Amino acid sequence: MIGNDIKTAADLLKKGEIVAIPTETVYGLAGNALNASCVTNIYQIKNRPSFNPLILHVKNVQEISKYAKNIPERLTKLMKKFMPGPLTLLLDKTELVPDIVTAKSHRVAIRIPNHPTTLKLLHQLDFPLAAPSANPFGYVSPTTALHVEKQLGDKIPYILDGGSCEVGIESTIVGMEDEKIIVYRKGGLSLEEIANEVGEIFLKENNEAIPVTPGMLASHYSPSTTLLIGDMKKLLTEHGHKNYAIISFNKIYNDEKDRHFQLSETHNFEEAARNLFKIMRAIDELKYEIILAELLPEEQLGRAINDRLRRAAYR
Ligand code: TXA
Ligand code: MG
Repeated sequence: MIGNDIKTAADLLKKGEIVAIPTETVYGLAGNALNASCVTNIYQIKNRPSFNPLILHVKNVQEISKYAKNIPERLTKLMKKFMPGPLTLLLDKTELVPDIVTAKSHRVAIRIPNHPTTLKLLHQLDFPLAAPSANPFGYVSPTTALHVEKQLGDKIPYILDGGSCEVGIESTIVGMEDEKIIVYRKGGLSLEEIANEVGEIFLKENNEAIPVTPGMLASHYSPSTTLLIGDMKKLLTEHGHKNYAIISFNKIYNDEKDRHFQLSETHNFEEAARNLFKIMRAIDELKYEIILAELLPEEQLGRAINDRLRRAAYR
């Protein structure tokens, strides 16, 4: 059931139920992070392999020090500057965090979601929420309550509606290894903004089909429709005879407007991020045979959007 009653959501969560919650990035599938059986249920509902750990969602910076220790100075700097916001930090976990949340890793992923509804909800709870994105494993993340309802509506008692997600792609995951700042997943906070604060950063994204360390799978964020990326004119020459849909940044490649999905008419990265998953879902529903997509400039949120497009194209 979809609703906007924070108390209903809080009461269900206190009883150990799983509830979908809005965040500024994407919707999450939330449960009491300190209760191992709730966390087990999240993995089951999502059909997610248990080697892939979950993010802890907390209400403020003070809470982070309950669940994380030895926080490096430069990560504290990022925390102060960008939280609440689309940033997840990988930090040494304290005893309070059950092993099942981190898939036995000594590090826990933590973020403060910047969404008024969910911040209010967290203030009514005396535990943090473990929450992966509220989609079946491998599919595109949901950015509206209706997206969640369509796929998981019959598996959870409540979907807390907080409107359409402002950012539209998942948080950026950042940690440290040997004094280096590492970005493990590009997301709603751009690399440029992070580097501006803390200087040099390194990328370490897992692109293997089976990750050796918990993290990202090469094939992820996939619509059901086959997606190809490349030079649009070439793609149209090869696939123009099929029932195709186009995803472009802002260009128009043909005059069949109904096949054409622009991420942002005004060439705006934020708007493109907000639209990306919505458009992939819309195309799946319209039953096109194939999606032809072009990459965005490799800068700002364009990097994170391209990452999603590449993973969607991986077969
Ligand atoms: O924006 C977001 O981050 C959304 C909203 C709901 O907060 N959540 C989200 O969760 O995207 P999920 O589970 O779909 O992706 C979390 C990513 C996974 O790739 C996971 O492997 C990684 O974070 N992760 C979580 N805990 C980790 C840990 N302890 N060590 C390494 N990677 C971790
Ligand atoms: Mg996910």
